[in-house]
Amino acid sequence: METVEREDIQGIVATGYGKLVAAYYLLLAIDDPRLTGSWLASQTTVITTARTGPGTDALNVAFTHAGLRRLGLSPDALAGFSDEFVEGMCTPHRSRILGDEDDNSPEHWRWGGPTTTPVDVLVMLFASDNGLLEDRYRAMVSTLPSGGLREIDRLDTSNIGMREHFGFADGISQPVLQGLGGGGPMDTVATGEFLLGYRNEYGLYTARPTFSRELDRRHVLPSDPSDSKQVDLGRNGSYLVFRQLRQDVRGFWRFLDGATKRPDGASDPGTRTHLAAKMVGRWPSGAPLVKAPDRDDPQLASANEFGYFNADRLGFACPIGAHIRRSNPRDSLDPNPGSASSLEVNRRHRLLRRGREYGPGLTPEEAVSSPVAPDDPERGLHFICLNGNVSRQFEFIQHTWANDPRFNGLYDDHDPITGPHTPSGATFTMQAHPARKRIRGLPQFVSARGGAYFFLPGIRAVRYLSGLTT
Ligand code: HEM
Repeated sequence: METVEREDIQGIVATGYGKLVAAYYLLLAIDDPRLTGSWLASQTTVITTARTGPGTDALNVAFTHAGLRRLGLSPDALAGFSDEFVEGMCTPHRSRILGDEDDNSPEHWRWGGPTTTPVDVLVMLFASDNGLLEDRYRAMVSTLPSGGLREIDRLDTSNIGMREHFGFADGISQPVLQGLGGGGPMDTVATGEFLLGYRNEYGLYTARPTFSRELDRRHVLPSDPSDSKQVDLGRNGSYLVFRQLRQDVRGFWRFLDGATKRPDGASDPGTRTHLAAKMVGRWPSGAPLVKAPDRDDPQLASANEFGYFNADRLGFACPIGAHIRRSNPRDSLDPNPGSASSLEVNRRHRLLRRGREYGPGLTPEEAVSSPVAPDDPERGLHFICLNGNVSRQFEFIQHTWANDPRFNGLYDDHDPITGPHTPSGATFTMQAHPARKRIRGLPQFVSARGGAYFFLPGIRAVRYLSGLTT
């Protein structure tokens, strides 16, 4: 087993900083590469690593491809990154495969789109409470060199208690890197699935820039482990996908309320919650439907050692098209569902999710019955995930599993939670005996409001990047 260099890895790879309940994401633009380089150099000892771990606060930093170019990275090195990262999230092809069309189109985005200021740098700040976060934020902003690095936007987050806005426990199922240890057999994946410069599930190294030692004048970069005699800018880094996803919480619960009314027209909160759970694949507590098909069972809130093929092949407990069954089909993949080879295929399409909520919480009851204020604040998820290969992980999951109407034998469903729905609404099928049940006309509950692909470098790579203009 490869040992990972924890001191060279940014902390967010190893932990979601769950105890640091307050967070800001700062989007920055580089105006002067030299001043930005000096600033970055000053941050190399401040960045939280996977060795030190967080105390009461943490800071991590990532770059877009445009940001690395502005910092002065050489064209050859820039071209060594994966195509998705080089091209960015907003090419027409990507918008098509990600479902970023119509209302979701990047033209309407708050940030990251073609009509907004290009983002070069992402700074993620975490703290144990809002007061401390504010202090750290002010201190951080005061270090930004005037005329060198500028804050474009600050994305705030909210702590609504380990849940996402529709009211479901989130962050339960996560893969574990072999090199970091501690995971069960279902969840442990090769280190290279998330960290560049390590072998992935194919036994290979994923795309990242390696180049001649002569270009590393200060000798800060690690060697390319594949014996090329070059240095490795990617080693201990990861590709970070960021999507700001607005959640229409009122629309969600109102639609479900309408679909589950009693014959006398009264709301039926129990059936409403059951339908929502069918769409997610877990109950609000987190209990998976495969293990708790009929009612929520908080004892099973963190249950994650389960498959679908032997337990629920036909989807009677957890529908085939439920959000978690689409985004991690576990053992139900061809060519040999239920087997070790099915799990092997599945291990190539995992995500390390690190996102946070934004906007104020709303209970299902409030969502159904409280009037909508004209200034109803936006709420949603700052979806963040890490990948060794964005195309094979995030994009594949979103395109080939979540958004595919023909996923796993279905024929015209989308992911009921995240899917981009057609103007006439989407369909959600619940397999059942003797007849399946179909809910039609699902509106879109989640829409894209911003996003970008970032490179989250290792610490030595940050040091290298900080010295490009000196
Ligand atoms: C606002 C949008 C979203 C909401 C409300 C949402 C909600 C949830 C919930 C409640 C869970 C179950 C808890 C857990 O296992 O951690 C979950 C799991 C998951 N979601 Fe999402 N999600 C959203 C967007 C996405 C997107 C965009 C992707 C990827 C393209 C994604 C991928 C996953 C994955 C991989 C899992 C774990 C499934 C498993 O391993 O069983 N989610 N999500």
